[in-house]
Amino acid sequence: MDFYEDFARSVLFKLDPELVHDLTLKAAGFAGSHKSVFGFLRGMFNFEDEVLSSSVDGLSFKSPLGLSAGFDKNGKTLGFFSMTAFGFVEVGSVTLKEFQGNPKPRLFRIPEQKSILVNLGLPNQGAEKILKRLKSVDLIPFGVSVASMNEKFDSDFDRAMSFVDCYNIVKSVGSYHVLNASCPNVAKGRFEGPEQVELLLKQVKKNCRVEKPMYLKFSVDLTEGDVEEISKVVKRFDFVNGFVIGNLTKEMSHLKKHPRLGDVVEKLGGRGGLSGGAAKLKSDRLIKQFYQESGKTIIGVGGVFSGRDAYDKIRNGASLVEGITGMIYRGPAFAKKVCVELSEFLKKDGFENVQDAVGVDA
Ligand SMILES: Cc1cc2nc3c(=O)[nH]c(=O)nc-3n(C[C@H](O)[C@H](O)[C@H](O)COP(=O)(O)O)c2cc1C
Repeated sequence: MDFYEDFARSVLFKLDPELVHDLTLKAAGFAGSHKSVFGFLRGMFNFEDEVLSSSVDGLSFKSPLGLSAGFDKNGKTLGFFSMTAFGFVEVGSVTLKEFQGNPKPRLFRIPEQKSILVNLGLPNQGAEKILKRLKSVDLIPFGVSVASMNEKFDSDFDRAMSFVDCYNIVKSVGSYHVLNASCPNVAKGRFEGPEQVELLLKQVKKNCRVEKPMYLKFSVDLTEGDVEEISKVVKRFDFVNGFVIGNLTKEMSHLKKHPRLGDVVEKLGGRGGLSGGAAKLKSDRLIKQFYQESGKTIIGVGGVFSGRDAYDKIRNGASLVEGITGMIYRGPAFAKKVCVELSEFLKKDGFENVQDAVGVDA
């Protein structure tokens, strides 16, 4: 009997998704700041095995599974997640100024697809406040995901500078940084055309000292041609260590006839995106292409629910993997469940360490 999957989830899934998210953040924040419960939390949610520990771009991880961006946008729960089997957390996405995000409701569950329809629009407390909070945190390796402001820019140059200015504020905290070029829910949409990527990287090169690993996050909707073009551009900027693949899919037309969400999708008029099951196959395919095309580090994300899902991404070329929807559907022991299964797959196939399995199917 699994308490979350067999009981708690059916109760929580009757409540508004964002309310549950906020309550979970509060509970995790509270538990993670009370040392007296750390032993209990470790017993419930941690798992460690040498086969899972690895070093990527000079950073050490006890497991290759991270909590993906979007769960802890303000960096309030790192204490809690350091007691779990997660090897790292990606905080954010963070923007230069604070945002309330898009009007509610803006999160919808699609259980039959194990997905979430997300139209949050980057609510977060802004770079300065988050910097202050994270300055004293070193419990677990964490990255900071940086996004451009959710507003209408006069030019792509101004938008690129909105990434640059935010990055320059938060770059002193965290083990690595991600430039999230793929948020589907902001005023101007994604910033992941090859020319936009080039403009962004030129401005980073000109205005920032990049001293920690940096990754670019793209959506899972990129085409093969996009991957080729983007890889060519990125090869010219050696401060980019690799890619986070990927963000939500915009392929939502099948939901137009959905009895509960048809009207919602209609009203969104192309805004928003789908996570989880809807993103998995696209993510797996793109991971392989980016790995083959760029030879750079890949952090694979999209539809990780089990050790098998994580293992597939690693075999396709991901050095690290992340999940968020998996935790929503499988509960706080999600990371432990994935890591236990992943370690079994690795050992069964004769790998001494997870690093040896990276890209074997690519
Ligand atoms: C509720 C929610 C909020 C998200 N917010 C962000 C975000 O702020 N920045 C970002 O880069 N990705 C964000 N994402 C995308 C996830 O990080 C991830 O790329 C995507 O959901 C696919 O992974 P999954 O299938 O494990 O959810 C969000 C996803 C969800 C479900």
